[in-house]
Order: sequence, then structure tokens, then C-alpha cells
Amino acid sequence: MVSLMYRGLLLVLWVSSTSCASICSSRGVSSCQKCLAVSPTCAWCSQEDYGKGASRCDTKSALENNGCLPDYIEYPISEINFSANQPLSNKGSGGEAAKITQISPQKIELYLRPDDSKVFTVQVRQVEDYPVDIYYLMDLSYSMRDDLANIQTLGTKLADRMYKVTSNLHIGFGAFVDKPMSPYMFTSPEDIANPCNNIDTTCLPTFGYKHVLALTNEVERFNEEVGKQSVSRNHDAPEGGFDAVMQAAVCDERIGWRNESSHLLVFTTDARTHIALDGRLAGIVQPNDGHCHLGADNHYTLSTTLDYPSIGLMTEKLSQKNINLVFAVTIEVLDLYRKYGDLIPGATVGKLSEDSSNIIQLIVESYEKIRSKVELEVRDLPEELSLSFNATCTNNEVIPGLKSCSGLKIGDTVSFSIEAKLRGCPEERVKTFTIKPVGFKDTLTVTVHFQCDCQCQENDVPDSDACNKGNGTLSCGICQCHPGWLGPHCECSEEEYDPTQQDRCTQNEKGSICSRRGECVCGQCVCHNNDFGKVWGKFCECDDFSCLRFKGEMCSGHGQCNCGDCICESDWTGDYCNCTTRTDMCMSSSGLLCSGRGQCVCGKCDCTQPGSYGDTCEKCPTCPDACTFKKGCVECKKFERGPWFEEEALCKRICRDEIVSVAELVDNGEDAVNCTYIDENDCVVRFQYHEDSSGKSVLYIINEAECPDGPDILVVLMMVIGAILLIGLVALLIWKFLITIHDRREFAKFEEERAKAKWDTAHNPLYKSATSTFTNVRYRANSE
Ligand SMILES: *[C@@H]1O[C@H](CO)[C@@H](O)[C@H](O)[C@H]1NC(C)=O
Ligand SMILES: *[C@@H]1O[C@H](CO)[C@@H](O)[C@H](O)[C@H]1NC(C)=O
Ligand SMILES: *[C@@H]1O[C@H](CO)[C@@H](O)[C@H](O)[C@H]1NC(C)=O
Ligand SMILES: *[C@@H]1O[C@H](CO)[C@@H](O)[C@H](O)[C@H]1NC(C)=O
Ligand SMILES: *[C@@H]1O[C@H](CO)[C@@H](O)[C@H](O)[C@H]1NC(C)=O
Ligand SMILES: *[C@@H]1O[C@H](CO)[C@@H](O)[C@H](O)[C@H]1NC(C)=O
Repeated sequence: MVSLMYRGLLLVLWVSSTSCASICSSRGVSSCQKCLAVSPTCAWCSQEDYGKGASRCDTKSALENNGCLPDYIEYPISEINFSANQPLSNKGSGGEAAKITQISPQKIELYLRPDDSKVFTVQVRQVEDYPVDIYYLMDLSYSMRDDLANIQTLGTKLADRMYKVTSNLHIGFGAFVDKPMSPYMFTSPEDIANPCNNIDTTCLPTFGYKHVLALTNEVERFNEEVGKQSVSRNHDAPEGGFDAVMQAAVCDERIGWRNESSHLLVFTTDARTHIALDGRLAGIVQPNDGHCHLGADNHYTLSTTLDYPSIGLMTEKLSQKNINLVFAVTIEVLDLYRKYGDLIPGATVGKLSEDSSNIIQLIVESYEKIRSKVELEVRDLPEELSLSFNATCTNNEVIPGLKSCSGLKIGDTVSFSIEAKLRGCPEERVKTFTIKPVGFKDTLTVTVHFQCDCQCQENDVPDSDACNKGNGTLSCGICQCHPGWLGPHCECSEEEYDPTQQDRCTQNEKGSICSRRGECVCGQCVCHNNDFGKVWGKFCECDDFSCLRFKGEMCSGHGQCNCGDCICESDWTGDYCNCTTRTDMCMSSSGLLCSGRGQCVCGKCDCTQPGSYGDTCEKCPTCPDACTFKKGCVECKKFERGPWFEEEALCKRICRDEIVSVAELVDNGEDAVNCTYIDENDCVVRFQYHEDSSGKSVLYIINEAECPDGPDILVVLMMVIGAILLIGLVALLIWKFLITIHDRREFAKFEEERAKAKWDTAHNPLYKSATSTFTNVRYRANSE
């Protein structure tokens, strides 16, 4: 059996290696570069006198076998080099000198061949006691006047509260209303100076955005500056807060965002906001440019010139500056800002009470929410590259396809495994992209070197004599002919038309020239690749796109199309390559393929035993052998005996059930089977085998086996004596009975004899009478 499997494996290996060779060599590729693009397994031989007829594009080993010298083999491989790989830091505090690392590695060089992929792992840790910058951006429109009173002492209170999570807090303050122009503001001359004129109070003239206090660790100054503020007023309901968000993000030097800190931009408002294109109401058509325009007076200078920023631009700038936006908004507009929050990575939204009294709690919660999540973002990814992620969050469980982890505590390390796959070759052969956790300053810089070129190209000989006296370039061992020339040595000119050449381009009498997918030039088909893929073959009869498809993917995505046939990757078979030869998915927790109740077909269990179901046929409450099978487990796990116990590994492997000792069995529904068996001591063991829908199985075993009591000597003795007595008694009775019957008979006989004797005295048999009588015989004819 084993040797059969082994031979099967060898066969698979052999098939896949020969099919690979055919993928490289069957295409008839005409240059080293194209050869590298066919498959990552292909190599090119650039030796000029390389074996006649053999393809220069083949697997490395095939080229070597055909006599290509190692120096002439072009075979770049994909690899990863780590150029900066500092370990993760534990703590954020410890002065400027200590470099804080929250992502590892920091720089990698990726060398990739087309169609090849590489996997690398990135670790991220939220270090403890990381510096925090909080910039408080407040709506100072008239409705926020009660809120202003409440945040007069915000600085000290917030600092007190935040010191629990960081010893290094900077806070700053800015305010906004709306663009100071019609129709956003009141425009009569008195109202411009005092927009609250018509409600008979005074307030500040409308302003767009003003930066009040740069980020500082002097929390008293925050209270001081906020105390100096007063509200303003505008005309329409929505405010111009997004202008302020944009300026607060891009004027990073003026605001004072530090490089090594978490950046929180707290945005409080109780109203809707103007968004991009709303500027047209006031005749503003110039889009926001995403640059800093803070004047010497700390006011936004281009408030009336530039439109409001778009969400997209804001997202880009916030992400560039690693700023987490916190929307602290009142209940009326909560839903609206939740939707904005969904569009901006790293943004959180909290409900602000009417008078901002819960703002501290809200900021702390947001900070914790931000710090409890790690999400990777990718910037400037070259379009030829595709990335796929698997996350390993806190419990060492790999979650495929995820690039974020949530529910983390500060200090937790998470890791992501990232697979980079190259699909094609860009013009530029080196490109760089970055991967970074949202809101972190730390990044991983990945430099991709596209392995699309052959080194032998550097030694190209233009107009080489070897190519028909200068009609082509000798490149990597073959002639690349100038336009108008063809053939291995450019010996054929397109202009010299010869009708017999056309015949050499048709596969058979009826066939069309070059299968209608190419041109016949000098008796050779020049195949046209099309949008679907490559076309090749002597008569352009082969392609790599007309293969069987399953679920829309060619060869089910598990193989390569080679001239109409799917060549499956190892582990896959079938015409569609949709049948896996792996059996690990069929392995049940009992250690048996399909729990011994079915067959593994294409990686799935085909449950043949009636009543069995489940991915590995593990569920089968009605199967008669559940009890027999589990009996072994009860024996080895609970009673520590039996054949499985002796081979300890076997018991561990087969019996994954949880063992629960109970006083009596209870009803556990339909998935439970009650089992009984008689053990080696003739005791009756009762247990219940229960399996829930997740496949977790539990064996409830009655603590005490019911054993028959041992025989009692006295009872046996008494019983024996009793039995003897009884038998004696019965024998006596029978004897007595028989004797009685015999006696009766004798007596009856005697009585009879006696009666006979009486009669005999009357008639003596010896007595003879004294008289004799005779009758005469006479003839009496016709007398009657
Ligand atoms: C990667 O690094 C190794 C050792 O540091 C070096 O030998 C190798 O040449 C590097 N690979 C490339 C393609 O630079
Ligand atoms: C912050 O980072 C920028 C760009 O990375 C750099 O130019 C600047 O010098 C850094 N500032 C400090 C204080 O390290
Ligand atoms: C992600 O996990 C899946 C299966 O769990 C695996 O096939 C794939 O290779 C993994 N990808 C990476 C990048 O590790
Ligand atoms: C190209 O080939 C033709 C005919 O074989 C020959 O006459 C000519 O010299 C070659 N070289 C160039 C540069 O055209
Ligand atoms: C493979 O694809 C064929 C054709 O679509 C389908 O009939 C068959 O069920 C598939 N096999 C598996 C195991 O998915
Ligand atoms: C198993 O035995 C318990 C207790 O005697 C009983 O309540 C339960 O219904 C039985 N379960 C089955 C499936 O017979």
C-alpha cells in the first residue's frame, strides 16, 4: 500500500516536472526576456553554439542536461533581503534618543520574477506610554456657547485623565465657524461687525478657521487660551469645519504635531458641514489645493478663495500626517458623521452631549479605540503587484484575508503575513511602496526589483555578422532580426514572396493559414497575441486561454493552460484542476479519514455510511458503531486500561473527546447516544456520547460501574444444604407415595381374594351331581 502510494507520488512529480518543461519550451518564445515572463521556472541559455533544435527556453536542469554551460544560463530568482530590521520597542518613553520601533522589519528589498510571489511577515506592536498629541478643533458658532463654558478647564482635566495612558501629552486648540462671505454669513454692515446684532447680543465677526494654541505640554495655557475665546455666528446651518480639518492637518509645523507621537484631531460640532463643491454657492470654483495657508495672524487666509476640501483629499492628507480624526458630535448629526467616519480610515465618531460635558470621556474612549486596532494601509503600490494578507492577532490564530486586528491591548504584538505577487513587468524596473499601520508614523518600505531582464542583454551585438551580414541584432545567443527580416539568422526577407511558402503555414489541406491567428511570413507563422493571452505553435494552434474553466477561473486557478490542456499544480488533478489530491481536509478529529465512514473525494468527504454527515462524516448519532468506537476511549481515558491505553499515543490521537464523570446521564437531545458495555470485570459501564454541531464531542461517563455482587459462602452453603434436604424430602415423599399405591393395590387384591373365597364355599368345584339327563335324536321329514 505504502509503496503504491510512493510510486503514485513519484509519478505525480514526474508528470509535473515534464509538464513544466513543456510550459517553458513549448511556447517557442523568441527572446530571453519573453522566456523569463513565461513562468518563474523558466531559464534561458545564451550560449551561441547551444545544441541545435533544443529550445533555449527551458527549465534550468533541462538546459544543463542539453549542454548549456552554467555561465550562459539566465535564471534570476525571486528573493527577499531585509535591509532594516530593528526589533520592536517595548516602551515609548525614554527620551528622544531612544528610537521607538512599532513595526518590524522597516525596509525590505524584494526581487521578484513575473508570475512569482514571495511571502514576508510584518510585526506591529502598540508600544506602551507612547506620546500623544491632541488638537482640539471647536465649532464656535452661536449654538456652541454653552459648550465653550464647559471646556474652559478641559486642559487640566484632560491631562489628568490622559496621564493614565501616557506620560507625554501635548494639547492644542483651534476654532472654526464658516467662510466669511455670503451666503454663509450675515452681510449687512452692522452684522458683519457683530453677527449677533439681530438677536440683540454681541459676538465675534464670522471667521473661517483660526489656530489658537499650538500643541504644548503646558496644559494651563490651554485653559487660559480657551478662556479668552468667545462665540461667533453664521447664517446657514452647515459649518465650514472641513476647511479647518484640512488646515490643521497640513500646517503640521504651525500646529506642532510631533513626529513620534499619536495624533488625535478632535472635531466638535453640533451641525452639518459644508463639503466640496458647496463653495459654488458663493461663487468659489477653485478646488482646495491641500496646502497650508495660515497667515501671520493664525487665520486661514484663503478661506474665501478655495472651495471646501473633498473627503478624498482630507483622507489623503490625514493619512499622510498620521492623524486620527475624532468626530465628537451631538446626537442630531451623529448618523451623518458616522457615514463620514466610514469613509476616512482611522476616524472614530462619538456622541457629544449638548454642552460638551462628556468630552473627556469621549476623547479617552476614542483614543483607546484607536489604540485597540491595528490596520495596515498600503501606499503607492505598483499596479503590476498584488498583495494578499493574513493576520495573526492576539490568540495565534491565523485569519486569512485580513489586514487588521482589533480588540488589542497596548503592548500586544500582532503579525501579518503578506504575499506579494508580480503579474507583469512595468517600464521602470525598480519601484517602491510602503506599508504602514493607520495612524502610526512607522512604516515598512518595500523596494521591488522587477526581475524581468536578462544580464546577457547587456552584451547585445547590433547589426551582427552572424545575423545575415548585419540584418539583425545578436542578443542572448539568438538573432533579433531587423524589421522585414525573418528566420533564425534573419536569412529570409518579407518582400520575397513565394506562394509555396504559404503551404507551409497550414496544418492540413483544409486548415486555414496559421489558424487565422497569425501571418505567414517566409513560410513561418508569426502569431498574433490577443487580449486574452499568448498564441503560439507552428501553426498558431496553441494558446494559453482556451482551457476549461471552473467558477470563471481558468483551470480553476490551480493550473496553467498549455495549448488547450490544463497543467495542474501539484496537489491538484482533474481536467479542470479543481480536484485536490490533498486529504488533510478529510481527516476527522478521530484521526481517521472521513471518520472511517466514507471516502475522500477531491478534498471532500463522501459519506457512505447511512446517517453520517458533516465535513468529515464526523456526525452520525445513529451509526451503530459509535458506541463500540467510543468504548475504547472510555476504557483508555477514564479507566486507563485496554488496548489503546497501552499505546499511549494512539489513545491521545484517536480520543479527542472531553471526558466528564457524572452521577447519572441526562437527556442531551438528539445528538447524544446512550451506550452500555460490559467490561473485563463483568461490570456494566454506562456512558453517553454527545457531539454538538461544532463537532466537539463529550463523553459523559457514569462514575460507578454496576458490578454484580460476589457470591456469599453462607448463602451457597445454606442453599446446598437446603437443596439436599429438599431432594431427600422429595425422594422420601415419592417413596412414600409409591409404597402407599403399592399397599392399596395389595389390599384390593386381598379383598378380592377374600370375596372369591366366600363364593367358593357355596359351589365346590369338586362336587358332582347324582342325576344325568339325555335327549334322543329322531327323523321328522315333511312334518312341517
Ligand atoms: C541579499 O542578501 C544576501 C546576503 O545579505 C546577499 O548575498 C545577496 O546578494 C542579496 N541579494 C541581492 C539580490 O542583492
Ligand atoms: C520629522 O520628520 C520630518 C520628515 O520625516 C523631518 O524632516 C523632520 O526633521 C522631523 N522632525 C523631527 C523633530 O525629528
Ligand atoms: C493565508 O492563509 C491561506 C490559508 O489559510 C494560505 O493559503 C495563504 O498562503 C496565506 N497567505 C499568506 C500571505 O500567508
Ligand atoms: C542583409 O541581407 C541582404 C541579403 O541577404 C544583404 O545583401 C545585405 O548586405 C544584408 N545587410 C544589410 C545591412 O542589409
Ligand atoms: C470541477 O468542475 C466540474 C465542471 O464544472 C464540475 O462538474 C465538478 O463538480 C467540479 N469538481 C469539484 C470537486 O468541484
Ligand atoms: C439517555 O439516558 C438518559 C437518562 O436515562 C435519558 O434521559 C435520555 O433520553 C437517553 N438518551 C437517548 C438518546 O436515549
